[in-house]
Amino acid sequence: MRIILCGFGVVGQSLVKLFNSRSEDLYAKYGLKPRVVGVFDSKGSAIDSSGLDLEKLVETKKKFGTIKNYSITKNNWSGLDIIKNLEAEVLIETTASNYKDAEPGMTHITTAMKRGMHIISVNKGPLALAFPSLLELAKYNQVMLKFSGTVGGGTPILDYAKESLRGERIISFAGILNGTTNYILTNMANGLSFESALKDAKDKGYVEADESLDLDGLDAAAKLVILANWIMGMKVTMPDIKCTGIRKVTNDDIKKAAMKKCAIKLIASCNKTLEVSPKEVSIDDPLCVNGTLNAIAFTSEHSGTQTIIGKGAGGMETASSILRDLLDIRQETSRI
Ligand code: HSE
Repeated sequence: MRIILCGFGVVGQSLVKLFNSRSEDLYAKYGLKPRVVGVFDSKGSAIDSSGLDLEKLVETKKKFGTIKNYSITKNNWSGLDIIKNLEAEVLIETTASNYKDAEPGMTHITTAMKRGMHIISVNKGPLALAFPSLLELAKYNQVMLKFSGTVGGGTPILDYAKESLRGERIISFAGILNGTTNYILTNMANGLSFESALKDAKDKGYVEADESLDLDGLDAAAKLVILANWIMGMKVTMPDIKCTGIRKVTNDDIKKAAMKKCAIKLIASCNKTLEVSPKEVSIDDPLCVNGTLNAIAFTSEHSGTQTIIGKGAGGMETASSILRDLLDIRQETSRI
């Protein structure tokens, strides 16, 4: 299966490492032979239609900070040149999420769809801003659009609600979908000020380059848009979410909640309205997870409430969700 990889940051590199370390069993168990034919980062690209050397890609990135130096005869192809000209079955989009205009991911995805490529996106921007029209475009071009890694990282939240709960009617759901703010709120509950908790989260590398995406609830809102469209069949985008972040949560608020045996968590919920805001959650509620963990509780008509808990981010975890999507595409296309 020929793959174009957009972006070569933590997730892209983890994916390539995963392909490399699992190549034998992926072929033996699933008949999957991923062949990465083009990769680009913000500084340049590497191409080889017979398949790039995965170890060399990672080494090049480590040594030069870009994959531009992959081969001595450097190519001048931009990411878009690659998408427009290389032959591939799947495009994997891992560039940074942007909630202003969703670029450059949006152009990567729409261009590849028009060329008949299946899409796996862990970039939330295009889905958050244009989920309904992207699904239509995928249908029109007869390609698959997969995005398991956008919600819950490696934790299969979307698959659980869509597949495991098939036939059920999900009435509502509520979740902690942003690990960074959960880590900050947990540390504030342990006595740290907002500023110190934020600094600690930054030192640990949890906070997005644009901290507002975490702190103002945009990342959680984007995940809520994806869930609402995919699980509830709503046709909504970012402006439909009522969104409040955690900047105004004080240590005093947290202490008051603790007296009622509650913790304050940034909750993304779908229950008539779509909302992201800090809420008091009972410490006995399975949803009340700490640190960087994510959790989501789905309430269904007949089977009650179930809560899924897991890591919501991480390079290898997210790479593992891309692999799940790739196996689905492989299975679907081998049926045709
Ligand atoms: N900034 C996100 C989080 C990363 O903290 O959960 C995963 O989308």
